[in-house]
Amino acid sequence: MNFYIITGASKGLGDAIARQAESKGKRVYSLSRSESQNGIFKKCDLSDPQNAENVINVIFDEVNPSEFQMIVLINNVGTLHPIKTADNIDFEEITANLNSNLLSAIVLCSCFIKRLRGFQGVKKIVNITSGAARKAYHGWSLYCASKAGLEQFSRCLAIEQSRADNPVSIVNVDPVLIDTDMQALIRNSNEKDFPDLSRFIEYKNQGKLADPETIASRILTGTELDKFYSGETIKVNDYK
Ligand SMILES: NC(=O)c1ccc[n+]([C@@H]2O[C@H](COP(=O)([O-])OP(=O)(O)OC[C@H]3O[C@@H](n4cnc5c(N)ncnc54)[C@H](OP(=O)(O)O)[C@@H]3O)[C@@H](O)[C@H]2O)c1
Repeated sequence: MNFYIITGASKGLGDAIARQAESKGKRVYSLSRSESQNGIFKKCDLSDPQNAENVINVIFDEVNPSEFQMIVLINNVGTLHPIKTADNIDFEEITANLNSNLLSAIVLCSCFIKRLRGFQGVKKIVNITSGAARKAYHGWSLYCASKAGLEQFSRCLAIEQSRADNPVSIVNVDPVLIDTDMQALIRNSNEKDFPDLSRFIEYKNQGKLADPETIASRILTGTELDKFYSGETIKVNDYK
């Protein structure tokens, strides 16, 4: 049996990945602030990275890794909040965004590797990224910075792990534009804070946002392929 730990599994993409994984017979732990119906739910606010360390240690105290062939961590939490220029954001907004999107994901990766050092089965980490890691947007400075940081962290991990015994494979997956609450948040912003607003409204009106179920299925299938693209950043549609 395979075992999945999925963050942000109450809504959107994470909810779809966790639901599909459970329906395919995987053991699933779902992490988010509001309740997830998928697998074993651990209430966890990742805007405090200490919660990330606590929750993953609780999980690995509860499960026996040797029961599984493959263990996968999917760092899916991502928030755009606040959509504002950097001269208008306050200290709490900065720390909440970077803690949720970047620091907690780093803590989870680090603890995952440490706790599974002796596990000889397959170990994979999927860090969900965004085109915003590479393209700058007015009003999204924290989101862009956090995703860029996460991508580079993954690349460093992949190099380190390539020299480790029982290595963990790590990939950045860009899910492209998906029809979730995150896109609704964008459409509810204003042009002063986010001058690209009309383009994102058009994406929705022209049906250019992908269905979360389709993207979740590709990501899940990607975790089971032999070729995992460790150290790379791939678009979800590039999984072959
Ligand atoms: N939607 C897109 O077009 C798009 C495009 C590119 C990349 N992405 C990336 O894809 C991933 C999923 O996005 P999505 O569109 O599914 O987002 P979403 O609909 O806004 O869902 C975000 C999930 O993260 C959880 N979450 C947010 N803050 C949290 C916190 N502090 N602690 C714990 N959980 C938290 C939410 O649950 P709770 O509120 O219950 O905590 C929810 O389950 C993100 O990494 C995003 O950056 C999305």
